[in-house]
Amino acid sequence: MTAKKETKNKKNTDSAATMENIISLCKRRGFIYQGSEIYGGLSGMWDYGHLGVLLKGNIKKVWLERFLDRRDDMYAVDAAIVMNRKVWQATGHASGFTDPMVECSKCKRRFRADHFQGSTLETQKRSNLCPECGGKLGSERTFNMMFQTHVGASPATISHGDFDGETKFADGKEIEAGEEGETSLSYLRPETAQGMFVNFKNVLDSYHPKLPFGLVQTGKAFRNEIAPRDFLFRAREFEQMEIEYFVNPKDWEKAFDAFRAETHAFFADVGLSQGSVYEHEIPDSERAFYSKRTIDFEYEYPFGKKELCGLAYRTDYDLSAHTKESGVDLSYLDEETKTRFVPHCIEPSFGLDRTVLAVLSGAYTEDEIGGEPRMLLKLLPSVAPVLVAVFPLLRNKSKLVEKAREIYKMLKKELVRVAFDDNGNIGKRYRRQDEIGTPYCVTIDFDTIEKDDTVTVRDRDNMEQVRVPSKELTAYMRGRFAL
Ligand code: GAP
Repeated sequence: MTAKKETKNKKNTDSAATMENIISLCKRRGFIYQGSEIYGGLSGMWDYGHLGVLLKGNIKKVWLERFLDRRDDMYAVDAAIVMNRKVWQATGHASGFTDPMVECSKCKRRFRADHFQGSTLETQKRSNLCPECGGKLGSERTFNMMFQTHVGASPATISHGDFDGETKFADGKEIEAGEEGETSLSYLRPETAQGMFVNFKNVLDSYHPKLPFGLVQTGKAFRNEIAPRDFLFRAREFEQMEIEYFVNPKDWEKAFDAFRAETHAFFADVGLSQGSVYEHEIPDSERAFYSKRTIDFEYEYPFGKKELCGLAYRTDYDLSAHTKESGVDLSYLDEETKTRFVPHCIEPSFGLDRTVLAVLSGAYTEDEIGGEPRMLLKLLPSVAPVLVAVFPLLRNKSKLVEKAREIYKMLKKELVRVAFDDNGNIGKRYRRQDEIGTPYCVTIDFDTIEKDDTVTVRDRDNMEQVRVPSKELTAYMRGRFAL
């Protein structure tokens, strides 16, 4: 008995990549869950499960390989999420990191005022009515998106049981109600970027890099979005992968163009097909005041063409702002020309979760096998959580299971991302692996143990099966993945 071939009367219905289908697959297969789900969730927060962690980690690995490991002009930074609040005063975030908001007087729902523009909701905004309940919308207000927090013991962080509004003690020191509330106020960072600017001098002093060079950081960022929506697209907690690349101002265009090309190359690396990432040059009137040029890279998500990442020429704005606020000189001495100046900065800023969503949207496919619908993720091996799944044809035949485990161990030593699956029947296992994007399944059957020691290798996309001698399997797989 050998691995059964699937009937290939398949019909591609790639356009089935709706948000509903993607979100449902993510939950069913353990990629991504709603945050705090058992308590009814928390808007704008998402939890990654095992396969989601692996997918996200692989995308990040590909990014780090391209932008850090393969280069000799980049330095990694992992700064604290909570920073001195003067950082955010210097950059203008404390006063200006805001979105325009309108609130419905009836249902109290809040909306981004600028999200009405150009949408079908625009007419409702003009008529001043809530798009949800028809209630009256209040006037437009600005809303700061930074999450506030307090560092150390303060009235805001001491529970009622401990604090009676009078004098309290923390770490043996007396603290006064009201005073420390102001001094301990801080924010969860709304971008990773500033962690790099404030470490500019540390990096200069430690490694003495010559321009041009860049700092690289990946990590969480937090924005109290007025209207989180579209799954991972607009979340309140998300991960960024950012670069601050410092140049002599006369060289900014060269660096900008190089990152523009590298950005497209990275998206191809993770499987976004050529032509699916669009550039949107931000006009002068819409750019941040400190930016001399910005390109948004957009992707055609199931809900429309939206920003995936950005590339900005931030001039010397951040280093100069921190020099002014901190009093610490953040200039650079060019040893050759003996000139001192504040370097200018090119910033490629990627959203990791938005990339996860784009990769999932691009990979999601539906077709048919023998009249049965099939869902699959056509993930590239560079990002697939599992590269190869190994099965015994039957789970209750100990000889098959033993041989399958042996082959699984052999592959796992070399390829790492290998899974063993003996749950349910073979058809169910194929479906499961198709849905999580596993490029190849290897089945151990009676021919393997009784006849010729060959195994069946089945291709996820075309469902073709070939028999490969088990001794050659590792090399065969390496060849498939060009490892
Ligand atoms: N340091 C520059 C900066 O943070 P940004 O355009 O505000 O620029 C960069 O953010 C990227 O971070 C975006 O292109 C997007 O990929 C991601 N991002 C921003 N806000 C997000 C949110 N609420 N949810 C998910 N990703 C977000």
